[in-house]
Amino acid sequence: MKILVTGGAGFIGGNFVHYMVNKYPEDVIVNLDLLTYAGNLETLKPVEGKPNYKFVKGDIADRPFIMDLFEKEQFDVVVNFAAESHVDRSITDPGLFVQTNVMGTQTLLDASRQFGVKRYHQVSTDEVYGDLPLDRPDLFFTEETPLHTSSPYSASKAGADLLVLAYYRTFGTPVTVSRCSNNYGPYHFPEKLIPLMISRALADESLPVYGKGENVRDWLHVSDHCAAIDLIIRKGKVGEVYNIGGHNERTNLEVVKTILKALDKPESLIQYVTDRPGHDRRYAIDPTKIETELGWEPKYTFDTGIAMTIQWYLDNQEWWKHILSGEYSNYFENMYGDRLH
Ligand code: NAD
Ligand code: DAU
Repeated sequence: MKILVTGGAGFIGGNFVHYMVNKYPEDVIVNLDLLTYAGNLETLKPVEGKPNYKFVKGDIADRPFIMDLFEKEQFDVVVNFAAESHVDRSITDPGLFVQTNVMGTQTLLDASRQFGVKRYHQVSTDEVYGDLPLDRPDLFFTEETPLHTSSPYSASKAGADLLVLAYYRTFGTPVTVSRCSNNYGPYHFPEKLIPLMISRALADESLPVYGKGENVRDWLHVSDHCAAIDLIIRKGKVGEVYNIGGHNERTNLEVVKTILKALDKPESLIQYVTDRPGHDRRYAIDPTKIETELGWEPKYTFDTGIAMTIQWYLDNQEWWKHILSGEYSNYFENMYGDRLH
């Protein structure tokens, strides 16, 4: 099989490329990425030079380029990770999120239709369901939960999901969609909660916690997400949505304190800052469908996964320090300068 992975220089796409290139030497993996601020070819060093791997630089929303690529490569499967993925950035620049996440998805769908791709898989997010109240731990997102988005990011992801499902219903394009909870693990860009806190704690810098730190996220190790997507593209039913999550809910404060304890750093580093506008309270996935229909189950609990992840950041300081020394050093000032109080 020839598989196009878009966004494979990012966090989850990069982990997925490693997973697929190593697990399926008989398949060819083509990684298409625009190399935005979030794309990093250093993440792909372990697979560079493997005979079943190829990198192509380009924009999923560039229609002539995408049509040429699909005509030339004749992909069997497309897995679309490429996106603008950071909620805070979507508050600063919503238009870019519509352009990449909605228009990019539509372009890939048109190319998949035109060139007879056998499976188009859309990597989506639990954020399309909006949020759950903090005082109702009995409630979970199922695949039937109505879409009810909060941020320009989640709205753009929901728009893309609806287009994907519309192409199935209207044109019979063979699609699947997965909606996963918060990922963590190696190669996670240090603007997101866990890698930001690890990198700043190691430098004895303040840890900016939004609001009171009571918001809840449902954490899944990235390798469990990769295994779930692999299963869906091979065994999932066309036209279906699959939720992915492992029942690992933690408040943000619990996550930050776990990191501080593991690194033997004081809780006095925590600094409460102005909340994110529209901040979703709680995410929690009900993964019954993928467990019962496809036999997926996560390998890692949060406790084992976070310990491995912290160790990875300790062992791979060059990877994230390289990012922090570049363009991203201005980002922290711009994003947090006015929020500190
Ligand atoms: P990321 O920001 O780390 O990576 C995104 C990648 O997409 C980058 O390599 C970037 O260069 C590339 N990209 C951006 N615009 C592009 C364009 N126009 N054309 C081609 N490439 C482009 O994101 P991530 O955290 O790895 O998320 C990957 C996907 O998974 C996204 O679709 C996101 O919505 C979804 N998702 C993420 C999480 C999470 O916790 N991170 C959870 C559920 C779903
Ligand atoms: O649920 C899946 C989603 O998870 C994905 O679709 C997104 O692409 C991904 O970025 C992630 O979104 P979140 O907004 O949940 O992740 P983030 O790491 O930005 O924030 C996690 C929580 O931590 C959230 O409640 C906000 C809070 N936070 C975040 C940062 C960056 C802080 O308190 N301080 C911070 O500095």
